Amino acid sequence: MVCGNKRELPWRDTTDPYRIWISEIILQQTRVVQGYEYFLRFVRRFPDVSTLASASEDEVMKYWQGLGYYSRTRNLHAAAQSMKGVFPKTYQEVRALKGVGDCTAAAICSIAYNMPYAVVDGNVYRVLSRYFGIDTPIDSTEGKKTFAALADEVLDKSRPAVYNQAIMDFGAIQCMP
Ligand code: ADE
Repeated sequence: MVCGNKRELPWRDTTDPYRIWISEIILQQTRVVQGYEYFLRFVRRFPDVSTLASASEDEVMKYWQGLGYYSRTRNLHAAAQSMKGVFPKTYQEVRALKGVGDCTAAAICSIAYNMPYAVVDGNVYRVLSRYFGIDTPIDSTEGKKTFAALADEVLDKSRPAVYNQAIMDFGAIQCMP
């Protein structure tokens, strides 16, 4: 469905936490345009947690070839094996997965489960720092605290899935580095 300026992306017509997890791991260090085809091929071969868990690490690596940051692949595979066939349903369990930090856990839980966790990635940081005129660097302890609190305050808690993806898109497309 075309809806306003929302980008049509293959992980946006689903609330399957597995697919959203895969897309968020790809997007940690890869741009949407580059990650798109990798995502499609990956989930075609490994459509769910069990298929990924039972594949060999070599094969998983083959589907990641070219994306770089290969520790992501090892973490992905190990995390799939730790799930015992079922993707975790709480923020704490999702955050505890190998390769998942605060930002990725917030993205997965808000997009898949509509939980009110604010994403603070590079895109969101640009939007908030410019809109609110705050120039505390995000790589300082104070900056992390400031932006996490601000992001949480302005998060639309009635629709975190749409809100988080909208602010990430806005940061990526309109609010350029
Ligand atoms: N960057 C990381 N995750 C994203 C998402 N779900 N939508 C847009 N940009 C992203």
